[in-house]
Amino acid sequence: MALNEMMHRPVVKKELVEFMRTRLKPFSGELGELEKDANTRGVPIIPHETAVFLNMILGQIKPKQILEIGAAIGFSGSLMAQHVGPEGHVTTIDRFDVMIRQAKDNFEKLGVADKVTLLEGDAAEVLPTLSGPYDFIFMDSAKSKYYEFLPHCMRLLKTGGMLVIDDVFQAGTILDDVKEVPKRVRKIHIRLNQLMDTVLDHPALETALVPLGDGLLMIVKKEDFDFSYILEEIEKEKQTRA
Ligand SMILES: C[S@@+](CC[C@H](N)C(=O)[O-])C[C@H]1O[C@@H](n2cnc3c(N)ncnc32)[C@H](O)[C@@H]1O
Repeated sequence: MALNEMMHRPVVKKELVEFMRTRLKPFSGELGELEKDANTRGVPIIPHETAVFLNMILGQIKPKQILEIGAAIGFSGSLMAQHVGPEGHVTTIDRFDVMIRQAKDNFEKLGVADKVTLLEGDAAEVLPTLSGPYDFIFMDSAKSKYYEFLPHCMRLLKTGGMLVIDDVFQAGTILDDVKEVPKRVRKIHIRLNQLMDTVLDHPALETALVPLGDGLLMIVKKEDFDFSYILEEIEKEKQTRA
Protein backbone atom coordinates (compact mmCIF):
# COMPACT_ATOMS: atom_id res chain seq x y z
CA MET A 1 0.00 0.00 0.00
CA ALA A 2 1.36 3.46 -0.92
CA LEU A 3 2.71 5.52 1.93
CA ASN A 4 1.15 8.92 2.39
CA GLU A 5 4.23 10.72 1.10
CA MET A 6 2.79 14.23 1.42
CA MET A 7 2.16 13.72 5.16
CA HIS A 8 5.92 13.72 5.50
CA ARG A 9 6.51 16.70 3.21
CA PRO A 10 4.58 19.45 4.97
CA VAL A 11 4.69 23.02 3.70
CA VAL A 12 5.02 24.68 7.11
CA LYS A 13 7.74 24.29 9.76
CA LYS A 14 8.21 20.73 11.01
CA GLU A 15 7.72 21.74 14.65
CA LEU A 16 4.38 23.37 13.82
CA VAL A 17 3.22 20.27 11.98
CA GLU A 18 4.21 18.15 14.97
CA PHE A 19 2.38 20.61 17.24
CA MET A 20 -0.81 20.41 15.16
CA ARG A 21 -0.66 16.63 14.91
CA THR A 22 -0.11 16.11 18.62
CA ARG A 23 -2.00 18.99 20.24
CA LEU A 24 -5.15 19.20 18.14
CA LYS A 25 -7.63 16.92 19.90
CA PRO A 26 -7.67 13.34 18.63
CA PHE A 27 -10.99 12.00 17.34
CA SER A 28 -12.84 9.86 19.82
CA GLY A 29 -14.17 6.32 19.39
CA GLU A 30 -13.91 4.23 16.23
CA LEU A 31 -13.03 7.22 14.03
CA GLY A 32 -9.99 7.93 16.21
CA GLU A 33 -9.01 4.25 16.08
CA LEU A 34 -9.35 4.23 12.29
CA GLU A 35 -7.15 7.31 11.98
CA LYS A 36 -4.49 5.82 14.28
CA ASP A 37 -4.51 2.51 12.44
CA ALA A 38 -4.25 4.21 9.02
CA ASN A 39 -1.31 6.32 10.17
CA THR A 40 0.46 3.32 11.69
CA ARG A 41 0.06 1.38 8.45
CA GLY A 42 0.95 4.37 6.24
CA VAL A 43 -2.44 4.40 4.50
CA PRO A 44 -2.84 7.71 2.64
CA ILE A 45 -5.56 9.49 4.61
CA ILE A 46 -5.75 13.24 5.23
CA PRO A 47 -3.38 14.38 8.00
CA HIS A 48 -4.83 15.12 11.43
CA GLU A 49 -4.71 18.92 11.09
CA THR A 50 -6.68 18.72 7.83
CA ALA A 51 -9.20 16.31 9.37
CA VAL A 52 -9.73 18.65 12.34
CA PHE A 53 -10.20 21.61 10.00
CA LEU A 54 -12.62 19.68 7.77
CA ASN A 55 -14.55 18.56 10.85
CA MET A 56 -14.85 22.16 12.02
CA ILE A 57 -16.00 23.67 8.73
CA LEU A 58 -18.51 20.88 8.11
CA GLY A 59 -19.90 21.48 11.59
CA GLN A 60 -20.52 25.09 10.58
CA ILE A 61 -21.73 24.56 6.98
CA LYS A 62 -23.91 21.53 7.82
CA PRO A 63 -24.04 20.15 4.27
CA LYS A 64 -26.67 17.54 3.45
CA GLN A 65 -25.32 16.07 0.23
CA ILE A 66 -21.58 15.45 0.06
CA LEU A 67 -19.47 14.04 -2.77
CA GLU A 68 -15.97 12.73 -2.20
CA ILE A 69 -13.48 11.78 -4.91
CA GLY A 70 -10.96 9.40 -3.33
CA ALA A 71 -12.38 7.27 -0.49
CA ALA A 72 -9.29 5.18 0.38
CA ILE A 73 -10.27 3.24 3.53
CA GLY A 74 -13.16 5.54 4.34
CA PHE A 75 -11.63 7.78 7.00
CA SER A 76 -12.62 11.20 5.64
CA GLY A 77 -15.85 9.70 4.27
CA SER A 78 -16.82 8.50 7.76
CA LEU A 79 -15.87 11.83 9.28
CA MET A 80 -18.02 13.67 6.73
CA ALA A 81 -20.93 11.23 7.20
CA GLN A 82 -21.14 12.37 10.83
CA HIS A 83 -22.16 15.84 9.62
CA VAL A 84 -24.92 15.19 7.09
CA GLY A 85 -27.80 14.73 9.54
CA PRO A 86 -30.61 12.17 9.29
CA GLU A 87 -31.59 13.11 5.71
CA GLY A 88 -28.13 13.70 4.29
CA HIS A 89 -25.80 11.41 2.40
CA VAL A 90 -22.17 11.01 1.38
CA THR A 91 -21.31 9.63 -2.05
CA THR A 92 -17.69 8.63 -2.37
CA ILE A 93 -15.68 7.28 -5.29
CA ASP A 94 -12.64 5.01 -5.44
CA ARG A 95 -11.14 2.76 -8.10
CA PHE A 96 -8.72 0.65 -6.05
CA ASP A 97 -10.20 -2.69 -4.89
CA VAL A 98 -7.89 -2.99 -1.86
CA MET A 99 -9.16 0.36 -0.58
CA ILE A 100 -12.77 -0.30 -1.53
CA ARG A 101 -12.91 -3.50 0.54
CA GLN A 102 -11.54 -1.77 3.62
CA ALA A 103 -13.73 1.31 3.16
CA LYS A 104 -16.86 -0.86 3.08
CA ASP A 105 -15.81 -2.67 6.26
CA ASN A 106 -15.02 0.61 7.96
CA PHE A 107 -18.33 2.25 7.02
CA GLU A 108 -20.07 -0.75 8.65
CA LYS A 109 -17.81 -0.68 11.70
CA LEU A 110 -18.36 3.03 12.25
CA GLY A 111 -22.13 2.70 11.83
CA VAL A 112 -22.33 5.05 8.81
CA ALA A 113 -22.93 2.45 6.06
CA ASP A 114 -26.51 3.66 5.54
CA LYS A 115 -25.28 7.23 5.07
CA VAL A 116 -22.53 6.45 2.56
CA THR A 117 -22.61 5.15 -1.00
CA LEU A 118 -19.30 3.98 -2.37
CA LEU A 119 -19.14 4.15 -6.16
CA GLU A 120 -16.47 1.85 -7.54
CA GLY A 121 -14.53 2.94 -10.59
CA ASP A 122 -12.39 5.64 -12.10
CA ALA A 123 -13.78 9.05 -11.21
CA ALA A 124 -13.20 10.09 -14.83
CA GLU A 125 -15.95 7.63 -15.77
CA VAL A 126 -18.12 7.93 -12.67
CA LEU A 127 -18.33 11.74 -12.46
CA PRO A 128 -20.11 12.25 -15.82
CA THR A 129 -22.86 9.84 -14.66
CA LEU A 130 -23.70 11.86 -11.54
CA SER A 131 -26.28 14.59 -11.42
CA GLY A 132 -25.95 15.99 -7.90
CA PRO A 133 -26.44 18.62 -6.73
CA TYR A 134 -24.01 18.51 -3.82
CA ASP A 135 -23.56 21.06 -1.05
CA PHE A 136 -19.96 20.07 -0.46
CA ILE A 137 -17.35 18.23 -2.55
CA PHE A 138 -14.06 16.93 -1.24
CA MET A 139 -11.52 16.02 -3.91
CA ASP A 140 -8.62 13.90 -2.66
CA SER A 141 -7.51 11.62 -5.51
CA ALA A 142 -4.94 11.61 -8.34
CA LYS A 143 -3.56 15.16 -8.44
CA SER A 144 -2.87 15.02 -12.17
CA LYS A 145 -6.64 14.69 -12.63
CA TYR A 146 -7.90 17.55 -10.45
CA TYR A 147 -7.95 19.94 -13.39
CA GLU A 148 -9.88 17.46 -15.53
CA PHE A 149 -12.34 16.79 -12.68
CA LEU A 150 -12.96 20.50 -12.02
CA PRO A 151 -15.68 20.93 -14.71
CA HIS A 152 -17.58 17.96 -13.26
CA CYS A 153 -17.26 19.27 -9.71
CA MET A 154 -18.50 22.69 -10.77
CA ARG A 155 -21.47 21.20 -12.63
CA LEU A 156 -22.35 19.03 -9.62
CA LEU A 157 -21.89 21.69 -6.96
CA LYS A 158 -24.85 23.80 -5.82
CA THR A 159 -24.50 27.55 -6.14
CA GLY A 160 -23.16 28.58 -2.75
CA GLY A 161 -21.61 25.12 -2.30
CA MET A 162 -17.98 24.48 -1.45
CA LEU A 163 -15.32 22.39 -3.16
CA VAL A 164 -12.23 21.52 -1.12
CA ILE A 165 -9.23 20.08 -2.95
CA ASP A 166 -6.46 18.42 -0.95
CA ASP A 167 -2.70 18.37 -1.68
CA VAL A 168 -2.21 21.23 -4.11
CA PHE A 169 1.26 22.51 -3.13
CA GLN A 170 3.42 19.55 -4.19
CA ALA A 171 5.41 19.85 -0.98
CA GLY A 172 6.02 23.53 -1.73
CA THR A 173 7.38 22.95 -5.25
CA ILE A 174 4.26 24.11 -7.06
CA LEU A 175 5.79 27.45 -8.06
CA ASP A 176 9.09 25.97 -9.30
CA ASP A 177 10.00 26.45 -12.93
CA VAL A 178 8.57 23.45 -14.78
CA LYS A 179 12.00 22.80 -16.35
CA GLU A 180 13.40 22.16 -12.87
CA VAL A 181 10.65 19.70 -11.99
CA PRO A 182 11.55 15.98 -12.32
CA LYS A 183 9.90 14.44 -15.41
CA ARG A 184 7.94 11.86 -13.34
CA VAL A 185 5.94 14.62 -11.59
CA ARG A 186 5.87 17.17 -14.39
CA LYS A 187 2.31 16.37 -15.45
CA ILE A 188 1.03 16.81 -11.89
CA HIS A 189 2.95 20.10 -11.67
CA ILE A 190 1.50 21.41 -14.94
CA ARG A 191 -2.06 20.31 -14.15
CA LEU A 192 -2.01 21.78 -10.63
CA ASN A 193 -0.77 25.07 -12.06
CA GLN A 194 -3.52 25.01 -14.68
CA LEU A 195 -6.03 24.39 -11.90
CA MET A 196 -4.75 27.34 -9.87
CA ASP A 197 -4.62 29.63 -12.91
CA THR A 198 -8.23 28.74 -13.70
CA VAL A 199 -9.79 29.21 -10.29
CA LEU A 200 -7.78 31.75 -8.31
CA ASP A 201 -9.18 34.90 -9.88
CA HIS A 202 -12.25 33.47 -11.57
CA PRO A 203 -15.21 35.87 -11.27
CA ALA A 204 -17.73 33.07 -10.61
CA LEU A 205 -15.70 31.64 -7.73
CA GLU A 206 -14.42 32.61 -4.34
CA THR A 207 -11.19 30.83 -3.52
CA ALA A 208 -8.85 30.43 -0.58
CA LEU A 209 -5.60 28.53 -0.04
CA VAL A 210 -4.91 27.00 3.33
CA PRO A 211 -1.41 25.66 4.08
CA LEU A 212 -2.52 22.62 6.03
CA GLY A 213 -0.96 19.28 5.12
CA ASP A 214 0.22 19.71 1.54
CA GLY A 215 -2.18 22.60 0.97
CA LEU A 216 -5.93 22.90 0.61
CA LEU A 217 -7.59 24.77 -2.21
CA MET A 218 -11.06 25.89 -1.14
CA ILE A 219 -13.57 27.07 -3.73
CA VAL A 220 -17.05 28.47 -3.24
CA LYS A 221 -19.25 28.49 -6.34
CA LYS A 222 -20.80 31.96 -6.33
CA GLU A 223 -22.57 31.55 -9.65
CA ASP A 224 -22.92 29.04 -12.48
CA PHE A 225 -20.13 28.86 -14.98
CA ASP A 226 -19.56 26.21 -17.63
CA PHE A 227 -16.04 24.84 -17.28
CA SER A 228 -16.54 22.10 -19.89
CA TYR A 229 -14.10 23.88 -22.21
CA ILE A 230 -11.40 22.25 -20.02
CA LEU A 231 -12.62 18.78 -21.03
CA GLU A 232 -12.52 19.77 -24.70
CA GLU A 233 -9.04 21.20 -24.26
CA ILE A 234 -7.79 17.97 -22.61
CA GLU A 235 -9.47 15.83 -25.29
CA LYS A 236 -7.75 17.86 -28.01
CA GLU A 237 -4.39 17.41 -26.24
CA LYS A 238 -4.94 13.64 -26.14
CA GLN A 239 -5.75 13.55 -29.87
CA THR A 240 -2.69 15.61 -30.73
CA ARG A 241 -0.50 13.18 -28.77
CA ALA A 242 -2.12 10.06 -30.33
C1 LIG B 1 -5.32 10.12 -0.59
S1 LIG B 1 -6.36 8.79 -0.80
C2 LIG B 1 -7.89 9.34 -0.16
C3 LIG B 1 -7.91 9.47 1.33
C4 LIG B 1 -9.26 9.73 1.94
N1 LIG B 1 -9.90 10.88 1.35
C5 LIG B 1 -9.14 9.94 3.44
O1 LIG B 1 -8.59 10.97 3.83
O2 LIG B 1 -9.58 9.07 4.19
C6 LIG B 1 -6.65 8.82 -2.52
C7 LIG B 1 -7.59 7.74 -3.04
O3 LIG B 1 -8.03 8.17 -4.32
C8 LIG B 1 -8.18 7.03 -5.14
N2 LIG B 1 -8.09 7.51 -6.52
C9 LIG B 1 -7.04 8.12 -7.13
N3 LIG B 1 -7.35 8.46 -8.39
C10 LIG B 1 -8.62 8.05 -8.60
C11 LIG B 1 -9.50 8.10 -9.71
N4 LIG B 1 -9.12 8.63 -10.87
N5 LIG B 1 -10.73 7.56 -9.57
C12 LIG B 1 -11.13 7.01 -8.40
N6 LIG B 1 -10.33 6.93 -7.31
C13 LIG B 1 -9.10 7.45 -7.41
C14 LIG B 1 -7.04 6.11 -4.72
O4 LIG B 1 -7.36 4.76 -5.04
C15 LIG B 1 -6.94 6.37 -3.22
O5 LIG B 1 -7.66 5.42 -2.49
